[in-house]
Amino acid sequence: MVEVMAEPGRNGDLHQLVDRLSAGVVGRVREIELAVAAIASDRHIVIEGPPGTGKSTLLRAIARELGIGFEFVEGNAELTPARVVGHFDPARVLSDGYDPDVFVPGPLATALQNGSLLYIEELNRVPEETLNVLITVMSEREITVPRLGRLEAAPGFRLVAAMNPFDAVGTARISGAVYDRMCRIAVSYQSTDDETMIVQRAVASGPPDETKDPIDWIGLVVELVRATRSHPDVRIGSSVRGAIDMVFVANSLAELRELPVLAPKVSLDAALVSLSGRIRVREGTTRTPEDIITELWEATFNRTTGEGGGETEGKAGAPTGATTSR
Ligand SMILES: Nc1ncnc2c1ncn2[C@@H]1O[C@H](COP(=O)(O)OP(=O)(O)OP(=O)(O)O)[C@@H](O)[C@H]1O
Ligand SMILES: [Mg+2]
Repeated sequence: MVEVMAEPGRNGDLHQLVDRLSAGVVGRVREIELAVAAIASDRHIVIEGPPGTGKSTLLRAIARELGIGFEFVEGNAELTPARVVGHFDPARVLSDGYDPDVFVPGPLATALQNGSLLYIEELNRVPEETLNVLITVMSEREITVPRLGRLEAAPGFRLVAAMNPFDAVGTARISGAVYDRMCRIAVSYQSTDDETMIVQRAVASGPPDETKDPIDWIGLVVELVRATRSHPDVRIGSSVRGAIDMVFVANSLAELRELPVLAPKVSLDAALVSLSGRIRVREGTTRTPEDIITELWEATFNRTTGEGGGETEGKAGAPTGATTSR
């Protein structure tokens, strides 16, 4: 059992933990509670959701706040079982043989030994043979390493993982055997309010500067980014990272071009630079990402840019000339 469970004031501890997590993570109260409840009861969890929905933010905060230590593993095609479990140092094997001292523990062996969290990013990029090791360790709480012997999990060992859904770019389908050993928390895109707050926090380095980042400006950027997710020609829209980038780029561009951030020449170019590479256009459509972003920008920003009379200038300033004729 983890410490948060063993303490007599367990309920209070869990509440405090949830409060501490809520201070660092915008919104996601339900997900925080579910994750804390699952981890405190010694379950393995996977958080699944589209890119940029705060999975890593949440798991990193949990790993930090639990105070039991965690081993971090980035899931990718090169993650062999030896890299996760550990290996015998070949040079020292020559001189000392297969002595336990010669074994270099990987993150899994360390987490098992210390009873800490094994935190795996991008679980669905982990190769099959490495997943098989994780499947064993999740249910048996031990693994057998050739020439070393049995490694048993100390109390507190759990696996927490984050991953994108199967249909996201470059992801594989996770087998039922993995899912069957874990609790799953599904996250979807943030609410408008949370997303606005996330962008505000990301761009604010100090007290909010209303002239540089007027609230309605960030609101419009978030509205535009959210619109990319429901456009009929777009398969996967931009995450909140696109909104954060757009605000940063627009601030710099406004300075460079000596124009306000809301000027079309600034906001459209910032939108194109920040969002056109982030959207995945549906197969079969002839439209370009630039074309779609420009259309959405016009729909979102015209209300504001029209007032300043800068609309024409903004359209002329589109770098691709891909503006629609509306
Ligand atoms: N709830 C949140 N609270 C604070 N910041 C957040 C939240 N959600 C997202 N962010 C911010 O948005 C960005 C993306 O978040 P994060 O890396 O956690 O997403 P993710 O779900 O792990 O994405 P991926 O699937 O691409 O790994 C980060 O800059 C993070 O700070
Ligand atoms: Mg992540």
